[in-house]
Amino acid sequence: MTKTVLLTGGAGYIGSHTFVALREAGYDAVLLDNFSNARDDVPDRLEIITEAPVTVYRGDVRDRALLARIFSENNIDAVVHFAALKAVGESVEKPLDYIDINVTGLTALLHAMREAGVFRLVFSSTATVYGTPEIWPIPEDLPRSYTNPYAFTKLTCEQILEQVAHADPNWAFATLRYFNPVGAHQSALIGEDPQDIPNNLVPYIAEVAMGKREALRVFGNDYETPDGTGLRDYIHVEDLARGHVLSLTQLLTSGESHVVNLGTGTGSSVMEMLAAYSRAVGRELPYVNVPRRAGDVPVLVADPAKAEALFGFRAEKGIDEMCASSWAFVSRRRNG
Ligand code: UD1
Repeated sequence: MTKTVLLTGGAGYIGSHTFVALREAGYDAVLLDNFSNARDDVPDRLEIITEAPVTVYRGDVRDRALLARIFSENNIDAVVHFAALKAVGESVEKPLDYIDINVTGLTALLHAMREAGVFRLVFSSTATVYGTPEIWPIPEDLPRSYTNPYAFTKLTCEQILEQVAHADPNWAFATLRYFNPVGAHQSALIGEDPQDIPNNLVPYIAEVAMGKREALRVFGNDYETPDGTGLRDYIHVEDLARGHVLSLTQLLTSGESHVVNLGTGTGSSVMEMLAAYSRAVGRELPYVNVPRRAGDVPVLVADPAKAEALFGFRAEKGIDEMCASSWAFVSRRRNG
């Protein structure tokens, strides 16, 4: 029988791609989103891509009455919880907002799930929970820490899930630690679409390519890395979305919790990403070297072995496909 999944934050960047991947894999999915960081037309675009109607609830994940209504109106088998705030700098200025939305959002959802008798949840976590790791590639059992309120909320959420699972064996959780998701769906209809000045590398380069920003500011070129710029594990958002489907299927079939990295195992530098994006656009994109950004680590690269061993996940797409798909999406968006 078709399983139905609730995606909180399902109109957002990773949520929307996961929606498509779930539908392709034979799942049905219902979206909840407050559209604070997603465009209103995302559900229409999802209908075009999947050629089927999309059920969307507009609202806040902390709204217990709304959650109860969603569970009563749909036969939900599992939840994938994306809805959260994710800008590190903003979290330093507004820690309470981050605690409220990210942590209270999770506990509200867990209450509603328990009342509805739904005990399977996939949680969007992040490589940020590894703090400032001394080694790489990073295995899942490295000690966790945090260096900013955003990271604190994600680490706290991971710990809440551990406590809840420990207290009640009915629960099973999949905790997915994303590395750096980039790129867009092959249709170029959905992608990363920040509403403000982008904080992250690829959306910023995209705006340089569009002429909205003058040049990429390269934050630090004196790290102990091959070209001196930061190394990250960039993963194509379609690969990441497929990882969610595999993880969810594993969770539903085994009934056992897991914690895995979703990355490629390959590190790329800021300069390599700029070169890849320049190839996608067909011209050299401008950059300037500026001092390091506070809180940045030199290298953050996943050990992806556990996800492969547990449910056969392996990322397939490289940085050229990531940048080309990002460029296809932003150029199409610009042209309406
Ligand atoms: C950042 C967050 C991380 C969060 C993730 C996803 C910080 C310190 N970390 O990760 O907690 O989970 O986004 O939202 O903010 N870079 C430039 N110029 C730019 C932007 C970035 O040189 O304009 C460099 C950075 O120094 C880094 C790399 O590009 O070396 C990637 O940066 P970014 O895309 O912001 O991701 P993270 O810092 O890895």
